[in-house]
Amino acid sequence: MGNRHAKPSGRHNTTRKHTSASVSSRYIRCLLETGEPRKFTHEAAFPGSAAEHAFLPRLWATRRVGFLLDDTLYEIVDESCRSAAGACAPVLTAAAVLRILCSHEGEGPGEGIMSNTFGRIFRVTTFGESHGPAIGAVIDGCPPGLALAEADIQPQLDRRRPGRSDLSSPRAEPDRVRILSGVSGGRTLGSPVALVIENRDARPADYRELRDVPRPSHADFTYRAKYGVAAPSGGGRASARETAGRVAAGAVAEKLLAERFGVSVVAWVSAVEDVAWEAESPAAVRREDVDATPLRCPDAAAAERMARAIRSAAADGDSVGGIVTGVCRGVPAGWGEPVFGKLHAVLGAAMLSIPAVKGFEIGSGFAGARMRGSAHNDRFVMKEGGLGTDTNRSGGVQGGISNGEPVVFRVAFKPVATIARPQDTAAYDGAPVTLRVSEGRHDPCVLPRAVPVVEAMAALALADAALLAAAGR
Ligand SMILES: Cc1cc2nc3c(=O)[nH]c(=O)nc-3n(C[C@H](O)[C@H](O)[C@H](O)COP(=O)(O)O)c2cc1C
Repeated sequence: MGNRHAKPSGRHNTTRKHTSASVSSRYIRCLLETGEPRKFTHEAAFPGSAAEHAFLPRLWATRRVGFLLDDTLYEIVDESCRSAAGACAPVLTAAAVLRILCSHEGEGPGEGIMSNTFGRIFRVTTFGESHGPAIGAVIDGCPPGLALAEADIQPQLDRRRPGRSDLSSPRAEPDRVRILSGVSGGRTLGSPVALVIENRDARPADYRELRDVPRPSHADFTYRAKYGVAAPSGGGRASARETAGRVAAGAVAEKLLAERFGVSVVAWVSAVEDVAWEAESPAAVRREDVDATPLRCPDAAAAERMARAIRSAAADGDSVGGIVTGVCRGVPAGWGEPVFGKLHAVLGAAMLSIPAVKGFEIGSGFAGARMRGSAHNDRFVMKEGGLGTDTNRSGGVQGGISNGEPVVFRVAFKPVATIARPQDTAAYDGAPVTLRVSEGRHDPCVLPRAVPVVEAMAALALADAALLAAAGR
């Protein structure tokens, strides 16, 4: 089953209605494959996991599911569950289940060409090129009724914006977000939320020298190898400008998490080059502490040493990397899955999709590999809200499922590839060249600007996990 079949649309000739308490993914597949409605008993209709059993009837309770097949609009209405609508209405949309079914089949739209979408229910697609007219994101599956305005999104975009200190790229982008759809009267409608950010300071000419030479350790060579065309100037989709769309969508996810689930996300710079700072109590770090220094390291003395390392690298025409630590507070026990959908696997995929990220650790991470079990185990203790652990080397996730402790992770960023100092390398045709890219507006260290990107990807992963967990109950 793929996108070629599942096309909910208003353009249709006839409508068939099916009222059944036992509609299921298999039932839909049957319709899609044969065009003939068939009935299944509840047991036969729900051969999947327990989560799927519970999930689908709740979905039908809230929405009518429709899809177009051979010019016939099939509609499935589960009248018997309709009374439960109040309980689960904010959770899922009908389109979400069709997408889940598509992704179960491994035939998501555009797969194999370029994946621009993240999430299974709370699905975010980013769009736009670094030096095109605009970039942004479309969120599909955002529950209705969430209070949302541009002012909820803009602060995070401002934190990611370049040109805000002498430590970041001087590209002057105002990064004003506009909500184009999915919100009316200050509340989400359950329809796609489209967020657009205009590119104002695009200067493709700055990248002229890169036409014939792939930047060492950047995305130019591999993009051309895969797509047979040069990435548009400035890296196109591989440019970190794409992350503005993630940050905008992440702000919406953060709002959803805070208001519906009591979950908050905070990240900070915990290392630049060899200057490191570890928070004594990661779960106590607040965003105000993080923003107290331009470095986004809550410790002023460490931040100053990090700033010196960045300025020293910039003076040499060079770049430096580092680590961002993230903490998600208020995540209840029970989010995530035990096999391929492990919470830390999804978080890891989210973080590793950020440009320049080279590593992800949850809890004790690689340091845990050097410990003994007796020293590493998180013992259970009775806490105020129920069973918890006295240490958190698991990073809040055990067996792929959250255990109720703060989710703590670290993300390693490499020193960015584009450096001002000349580099001896080779052109696409193999000719040796000395590459000079001093005109481009590049970050000597992306860490301070990467903080809101890490927060955004954590929020997107958790919002999706939250909706999946709610659907599975
Ligand atoms: C916020 C942010 C800003 C970035 N700015 C730059 C930059 O100015 N110059 C650069 O070469 N790379 C920059 N990068 C990283 C590149 O986009 C990335 O290294 C490149 O796409 C290649 O991907 P890879 O490093 O993941 O292999 C930035 C990354 C982030 C997260």
